[in-house]
Amino acid sequence: MPQCGEGGSAVRVSILSFGLQDHLFVPVIVAAAPSQWRGRCFFTRSLGSFGWVLQELLSSFDGCRGMPIVTVTRRLRFNAAHRVHNPALSDEENRRLFGKCNNPNWHGHNYELEVSVRGPVNETTGYVIDLGQLRDVVEREVIDQTDHRNFNLDVPYMAGINPTTENIIVQMWKVLAPAIAPAQLVRLRLWETENNYVDYEGE
Ligand code: NI
Repeated sequence: MPQCGEGGSAVRVSILSFGLQDHLFVPVIVAAAPSQWRGRCFFTRSLGSFGWVLQELLSSFDGCRGMPIVTVTRRLRFNAAHRVHNPALSDEENRRLFGKCNNPNWHGHNYELEVSVRGPVNETTGYVIDLGQLRDVVEREVIDQTDHRNFNLDVPYMAGINPTTENIIVQMWKVLAPAIAPAQLVRLRLWETENNYVDYEGE
């Protein structure tokens, strides 16, 4: 994915960070890093002082220092069927908890997914990230496996999980965050109806 510093001439980054289970960031020497990562600006998530100190170090090394930090968002649409149901509960409890959403013969929604990426504006392109490339990744990793399908029966990343909007967005994050890296996914917003949406920021 395009990042600030991509295309720059100098390979000067001597420290980089990477995420492990979303919350652990580890500095390593660039000699051990994949060559395609060199020269790029890696932004940690807001993990407190250590994360931000590392971010400053990285920025100074690859020419991102002083570049504005912007969040960009791509919206994608899909429709899918589901039944909100917890098999650990009785049918009566499920009906009481979930009402019409527990209808045994499914129902559908026209979902909208907003994917937000945050980072420095690339001096050359003026982009944080190419939104067309971001769209391609989200379509490949999530939309193609979900659109016109049944969350309970057809969607691999939802296998065995009650498909509430909250559970769906958490599973989407698990798929998308590593696929979008090293770009920094900062928020997913999933609209289930015109009136209902959920946000997730990876915590
Ligand atoms: Ni529903």
